[in-house]
Amino acid sequence: MLHIDSAPSTPGKVKMEKSSYFFTRGGGARWHYSLAKLTVWSFAFLALILIFFLRSPAPSTITSAADPSRRSLRNYNWAAGFVGTHVSSALKRRGDGVLGIDNFNDYYDPSLKRARQALLERTGVFIVEGDINDEALLRKLFEVVPFTHVMHLAAQAGVRYAMENPGSYVHSNIAGFVNLLEVCKSVNPQPAIVWASSSSVYGLNTKVPFSEKDRTDQPASLYAATKKAGEEIAHTYNHIYGLSLTGLRFFTVYGPWGRPDMAYFFFTKDILKGKQIAIFEAANHGTVARDFTYIDDIVKGCLGALDTAEKSTGSGGKKRGPAQLRVFNLGNTSPVPVSELVSILERLLKVKAKRNIMKLPRNGDVQYTHANISYAQRELGYKPTTDLQSGLKKFVRWYLNYYSDGKKAVE
Ligand SMILES: NC(=O)c1ccc[n+]([C@@H]2O[C@H](COP(=O)([O-])OP(=O)(O)OC[C@H]3O[C@@H](n4cnc5c(N)ncnc54)[C@H](O)[C@@H]3O)[C@@H](O)[C@H]2O)c1
Repeated sequence: MLHIDSAPSTPGKVKMEKSSYFFTRGGGARWHYSLAKLTVWSFAFLALILIFFLRSPAPSTITSAADPSRRSLRNYNWAAGFVGTHVSSALKRRGDGVLGIDNFNDYYDPSLKRARQALLERTGVFIVEGDINDEALLRKLFEVVPFTHVMHLAAQAGVRYAMENPGSYVHSNIAGFVNLLEVCKSVNPQPAIVWASSSSVYGLNTKVPFSEKDRTDQPASLYAATKKAGEEIAHTYNHIYGLSLTGLRFFTVYGPWGRPDMAYFFFTKDILKGKQIAIFEAANHGTVARDFTYIDDIVKGCLGALDTAEKSTGSGGKKRGPAQLRVFNLGNTSPVPVSELVSILERLLKVKAKRNIMKLPRNGDVQYTHANISYAQRELGYKPTTDLQSGLKKFVRWYLNYYSDGKKAVE
């Protein structure tokens, strides 16, 4: 079977562009847009869903984490993103039915998302192009497939972009999440939902390592604030409607097919181009460090969360009993200074970086992240095994391969 690390890649160009979002549209225009899209989809749907059913094993009841019938659960996943691609591929490899949704926005180069999509399609994972704010589209999907689980990874990611486009965070991370939960609460059976929060919710918390019990009421960025809002919204839908909800606080995920807006990715690009790279330091020459977590470890955590998720307890929009509500840290428990990340990249790329040491700007980044993962270890069997050196080696190998054929301009 085609593996995500070994698959050939298609052209891509690293470029950051602004997106146009929901808030620029009036409600009426939005409705017409959805209707038009649905008409198109009515054709595409049948084909898609047919393929989905033909390629997926039959559904069966899910009882416990060890139950092999979990192999046949039907998943609904935001798939063309970095983490979504890896999670979808892993689920498919073990025999789960997976359908993806992504709006392919241009926050970063959409051709990279398309390349991931092509890769997934070759393994039998199909992605519906749509927005999580499109209620009619989500309802239609649930009408056709009784998804047992939703793995929700769609978001406006990134910390600094909020200064340029704050509405995109509200659109995807708050309005989109609420829309998804509204649909999930009303379908029958309700799915169990696993979704991505973020280590950024710890904000200005200084107690390390960060534990799920620590305070998260001091976000340092709008991104963090929307993820924190997501955690509170999850609590509400669990409380009122009996939705089973598991939030995963990812700590700086990196690896092949990663995000071009993240430091390890654009440092690699800039080092290779001989461009200067900005390395931040905190006040009094304080070290800026991150608990970098390799994508394969994160995938194992996501699968562990799906496999231990209990069923939702509501039906017909009504709660029938208490439902599971969880939040886990998924990190590596081994913070590495950003300057050390650069040294590893220099060794792997065999190029000396032009370092420009700068003061950490106050636009959302925090000085230090470090996960306490004992809760995830206990409940999910989560145990990260990849150190930064080994993980970056795999990333660099992928990067050089992906951008090596001359067609893929790296700007
Ligand atoms: N990568 C990390 O280091 C990291 C750390 C903490 C949390 N997270 C969270 O994990 C999740 C996955 O992150 P990622 O790194 O794969 O990011 P990503 O940007 O690669 O993936 C997110 C995907 O969601 C899609 N999307 C965004 N808004 C949408 C909308 N309204 N409707 C439909 N699709 C939409 C995007 O097109 C993108 O493909 C996100 O929720 C992110 O906030 C990631």
